Amino acid sequence: MINGQEKVIIALDYPNWKEAEKLVLQIPEVKYYKVGLELYLASRGEAVQNLKKLGKKVFLDLKFHDIPNTVAQACCQAVDQGADILNVHALGGKEMMAKSASAVQEQALKQKREKPLLIAVTLLTSMNEDDLQGVGLSGVEQSVGRLAHLTKEAGLDGVVASPREIKLIREKCGKDFKIICPGVRPTWAAKGDQKRVLTPKEALALGADFLVIGRPITKADNPREAAQRILEEVQ
Ligand code: C5P
Repeated sequence: MINGQEKVIIALDYPNWKEAEKLVLQIPEVKYYKVGLELYLASRGEAVQNLKKLGKKVFLDLKFHDIPNTVAQACCQAVDQGADILNVHALGGKEMMAKSASAVQEQALKQKREKPLLIAVTLLTSMNEDDLQGVGLSGVEQSVGRLAHLTKEAGLDGVVASPREIKLIREKCGKDFKIICPGVRPTWAAKGDQKRVLTPKEALALGADFLVIGRPITKADNPREAAQRILEEVQ
């Protein structure tokens, strides 16, 4: 049986910790929260520790992309801060990812804590074929498949992917590879700027491990009720 509370990650896209905290305190049912660049910088990193103090699990979505040594060291800092999930860009290459995977494992052992999930972003879902050709690449699907495979070979735990890429990634990387999906919308919520959306139930049926959901909850008139409706749908 799927435990909905372990599957839904609320994206805390807020310009300060006070607003984020207000939302978190309203929804005791949800365990996972995503801290991205905006809230991480606005709170000087404190959003992570604050969420941990509230007993929450944290997806630190900073998408590291730099030379292997720099990214591996940044990953160690994220482990020390208590991130439960963290991510890098697969386009940083296999050596960068492999070095980060070993660093995360060693740092977690050193801190005597459970190893966080290390995830890679394959291609940003905001990039279409034209954007890809603009940077000298081509073939969105083939690129996603290749980068997911490289991520697995480098020893990472999984990828962030659009729900429509789940099938392809499952075929290439197997059933234990974690897939985290943004771009999820319940039928009753506005789509916002997400174009290729599936409902939470559809994304889970296709094999998503986690769903990242922001505005359908954070911008709802009653965020707790919205979160509860989503948890019921995925239960
Ligand atoms: O509000 P919404 O549900 O669209 O929020 C989705 C979250 O997932 C945002 O924090 C967004 O930055 C993030 N995200 C995304 N697409 C990706 C990667 C991350 O929408 N490919």
